[in-house]
Amino acid sequence: MAQSRLARLQWPLLILVVLVVPSLFYEDLLARLGVELIGTTIKVLSAALYVSLWLAMAWLCVRLLDVFFWQGLIADRLGGQAPKLLKDVIAVLIFAIAITGILGMVFDLDVTGLWATSGVLTLVVGFAIQSMIADVFSGIALNIDRPFRIGEWVKIQRRGFEPVIGRVEEVNWRSTRVWQTDGTLVIVPNSVVATTVLTNLSQPDAKSRFELHFCLDFGVPKERALRILLAGVKAAKGPLKDPAPKVRVNGVTNGGVDYEVRYWLNPAEVSPSKGRHAVAGAILEHLHHAGLTLAYNKQDLYVASMPPRQLDTQADKSAIVGRVDLFADLDDQEMKLLAEQLFERSFAEATEVVRHGEEGDSMYVLVEGLLHVYAPTDNGHDVLVAQLEPGDFFGEMSLLTGEPRSATVRSATSSVVYEITKEHLTVLLDRRPEIAEEIARIVAERRMRTAAQQEAANKPEGEHEEEARGFAQQLLGKMRGIFASLNKKNGSRTAPS
Ligand code: CMP
Repeated sequence: MAQSRLARLQWPLLILVVLVVPSLFYEDLLARLGVELIGTTIKVLSAALYVSLWLAMAWLCVRLLDVFFWQGLIADRLGGQAPKLLKDVIAVLIFAIAITGILGMVFDLDVTGLWATSGVLTLVVGFAIQSMIADVFSGIALNIDRPFRIGEWVKIQRRGFEPVIGRVEEVNWRSTRVWQTDGTLVIVPNSVVATTVLTNLSQPDAKSRFELHFCLDFGVPKERALRILLAGVKAAKGPLKDPAPKVRVNGVTNGGVDYEVRYWLNPAEVSPSKGRHAVAGAILEHLHHAGLTLAYNKQDLYVASMPPRQLDTQADKSAIVGRVDLFADLDDQEMKLLAEQLFERSFAEATEVVRHGEEGDSMYVLVEGLLHVYAPTDNGHDVLVAQLEPGDFFGEMSLLTGEPRSATVRSATSSVVYEITKEHLTVLLDRRPEIAEEIARIVAERRMRTAAQQEAANKPEGEHEEEARGFAQQLLGKMRGIFASLNKKNGSRTAPS
């Protein structure tokens, strides 16, 4: 076989030798032969000779490549023929180099342009067949490195893809063929095999370890989980008894505790998918009998009513009135009862809520807005005695004493108030006398303040100044007294008698 291959080198070699000899000695030869040729004839003959020489060399290179590389290394190692296209492209490239050599060396032509063009051409061709070249050279590398042999089980982990697990059937010049247990033949380009993570499941021995993960609830005690899972994997038909299967706690996930079940297989006897099926099936069966299910992602959910984001003056009277200091100590039931007895009333800006001198048998709680309290004076002008803000109450004086309204309450802005009738308040005060006491205390304070302000307002023009002057005189007198005594003291120190 090798001889017949070498025989293919005979002709190119013979022609080369036939051409080399005259190319070295042709001038001598012609002279000895006594042939007197004119210079032009010599030139033509020598050119023809060198052209033939270049072409013969190219031919020999192509044949050498064919015999030793394509049919030798590649065919022997990969067990198949390299693609004809690849061989032809490389042969054309060799002849192209020879032709540029002829043009440059024999005919003294400038071949720079030609080299540039041919360089571009080579680039284009190389680019077009780059994956083919990569596969061929990866195939050679795989054959030299021998990460696996035909018949061995491998796992080829490609990024972003399911791993290819199967038995190696063939490695040829371009691809590795893997027989999977689902009956399919996966053809993986050699460049992919050479550049991805490859696990040889049959090395260093025929046994390989496989893992399966099971996640169980946090509530399942670890010992119980380990017992059930181990029993399941040991009961499965397929995994080897030696090394024995094991179960380990692998970690904790959102769903529960992750257990890793490890078992050993001889892929040549039981395929990984069959082993996985046997182990998973047996474990599920054991879990079922133990009354356990696999955990799933979950979150604890506490259900509680949403706190109100905004109170409604009509619907949430109880919550609003609970913010009034006077009623803050009422219990839920009392608060609810009071809330039911409140009437909501709205007032536009600058309107009177209660008027001085009118009869009144209800009191109010200001909910929203601002109110001003005006008390009458002797000079006929009302005087502003107080400003009421949300949470304040008013109108209590008439309600409790039966007297006419002591002041006018006017809205400084549009306002919302709750009205409580005498009847309802009486019931509340009967139950909660401390509220009556608090109201009485506030009424007393208010009366004094109002009286003081009325008094101040009643004084005729200039009386304030006169009073102030009188006060100043009094103060001055006192101060003089103090200073006089001080002076005396000072005098006795400075001039002792
Ligand atoms: P009543 O007299 O029923 O009507 C007018 C109300 O104005 C009165 O009750 C008090 O509630 C209120 N009022 C009077 N004087 C003052 C004050 N100095 N401070 C706060 N409120 C007052």
